[in-house]
Amino acid sequence: MDREAIEEIEVTLMLEGIFQRYGYDFRHYSPASIWRRVRHFMAKTGLEKVSEATARLLHDPAFFQQLLEDFSISVTEMFRDPEVYALLRREVIPFLRTYPFLKVWHAGCASGEEVYSLAILLKEEGLYERTTIYATDFNELVLEKARQGVYHIRDVKKYLDNYQRAGGAGSLHDYFDAHYDSVIMAKSLKKNITFARHNLVTDQVFGEMHLILCRNVMIYFDRSLQSRVFNLFNESLSRGGFLCLGKKETLRFSHIADQFQAVDKTMQVYRKQTNGEDNSFPDGSSLSG
Ligand SMILES: C[S@@+](CC[C@H](N)C(=O)[O-])C[C@H]1O[C@@H](n2cnc3c(N)ncnc32)[C@H](O)[C@@H]1O
Repeated sequence: MDREAIEEIEVTLMLEGIFQRYGYDFRHYSPASIWRRVRHFMAKTGLEKVSEATARLLHDPAFFQQLLEDFSISVTEMFRDPEVYALLRREVIPFLRTYPFLKVWHAGCASGEEVYSLAILLKEEGLYERTTIYATDFNELVLEKARQGVYHIRDVKKYLDNYQRAGGAGSLHDYFDAHYDSVIMAKSLKKNITFARHNLVTDQVFGEMHLILCRNVMIYFDRSLQSRVFNLFNESLSRGGFLCLGKKETLRFSHIADQFQAVDKTMQVYRKQTNGEDNSFPDGSSLSG
């Protein structure tokens, strides 16, 4: 048996150990993404064998926290992929406007930049006051950053540009205060947002939503895990509710595809059917395969 095959066994044992010891289940993350993260973690710790890391992980919760940081890739930005927000404004907001109150779930929200972006969009569309936003992630450290809503000023130029391209109706400066090298998001944006820990792999539905956004999260999951998460979203969405997956993930070919209508093929926005509508894309191609 070569070294790589042995490492594969070690990684399997490590993921099983983490699950049994801490309840975090990485067993169905895509192998390529797990390998990248394990290699990065091993290089950082200076340990030679994955099994050495496993032994330490089992006995040292602080060491596990370090691994969790590495396993939770939390890169994000305000109005990331601005065309997604432009599309939400154009195609989804008109439907949401018809509801007396709204519930939105950002799953895998990382440090919160996309949550504040949507809050701004809803404010500009006059919907924020009737909306409750639940923003969840399994990484408590990034959630704390999201709650604080303090971001580095060097990123603001990019955010201003994104905001314009997303069809921003005012000035982004109205939604934060600059303080030395940071910007602090306005309290008026925070008041209807609840940041909470939720693990898409192990936790359950926690409410009925009108809009769910989950972008750049499921790319790390294998097919079986994606199916679990799609079930969770399907059960969480009200009839006629929207699911926004963004440019990298798709509902196409999934087992719940026939319960959704496609709103946009590129931005991967879907609407849960109210009853038996056509589920093809505007160009005629089918969502279910
Ligand atoms: C690359 S970030 C995406 C952030 C944001 N949605 C965006 O598109 O900019 C992925 C986030 O998913 C979170 N994540 C990964 N696995 C998760 C799980 N099982 N449950 C909840 N969040 C998870 C990570 O902690 C990380 O913050």
